[in-house]
Amino acid sequence: MIAKIVVAASGSGSNFQSLIDAIDEKRLHAEISGLIASKPGIGAISRAISAGIPYDIVPTTARRSSELLASELLSILKIRGANFLVLAGFLLKIPDSVIKAYPNQIINIHPSLLPKFGGKGYYGLNVHRAVIEGGETESGCTVHLVNEHYDEGRILAQKKISVLKGDLPETLAARILKEEHKLYPAAVQQYIEQFPKNIKH
Ligand code: GRF
Repeated sequence: MIAKIVVAASGSGSNFQSLIDAIDEKRLHAEISGLIASKPGIGAISRAISAGIPYDIVPTTARRSSELLASELLSILKIRGANFLVLAGFLLKIPDSVIKAYPNQIINIHPSLLPKFGGKGYYGLNVHRAVIEGGETESGCTVHLVNEHYDEGRILAQKKISVLKGDLPETLAARILKEEHKLYPAAVQQYIEQFPKNIKH
C-alpha cells in the first residue's frame, strides 16, 4: 500500500517540485494525489499541471470563516484519498478540526532552526531578516509535524547552515531553500516509512 499525499502551497511551489522529483527518482515512495492551492495563478499550480496532478483552489478572504476553510479542506482530503497533508509554503493556518481529523499526518517545512524564529509573523523573508538582525551565526530549515500552535509540532528533521558575513535576507533564503529541497523529500520518506502504522485514515 502506497501512501497518498496531498500537498498544499501558496507560492512558487519549489518544495512541491522537490517532492514530485523525489517520487520520479524513487527516493520518495508515495503518490501525490492532489495539490491544494490558496489562490489562482501561483507557480505551484503550473507545476501540478505539468506533473498531471489534480489541483483544487481554496479561495481565502478575510470574510471566509475558518469553519468553511476546514470543511473545504476536509472534503478535498477525502476526495483525494489523502493519508498525509504536506504543507509546502502554505500560508493559511490549518484549522484545528483538520489537525484533529489527521493527527500526526500533517507535515510542514519552515526555513529556520525551530524553535527559533517560528510562530506568527515568521514567514518568508521576515524569518531571514530576523536571523541576520539577531546576529545568529547559524540558520537552516526544519521539517515538523503540525499541531494547533504555529511551528510547534514535533521536529522530524533539521539541516543547519552557516550565516555568512554580508548575507542579505535574500541570499540566506536562497541557500536555505536549496537545503529544503534535499531535506523535505528525505524527511517525508523517513516519516511515511512507518505508514500505515502512523495514520488514522
Ligand atoms: C519555503 O521557504 C518553506 O520553508 C516555507 O515557505 C517557502 C515555500 O517556498 N514554508 P516554495 O513555494 O516551496 O518555493
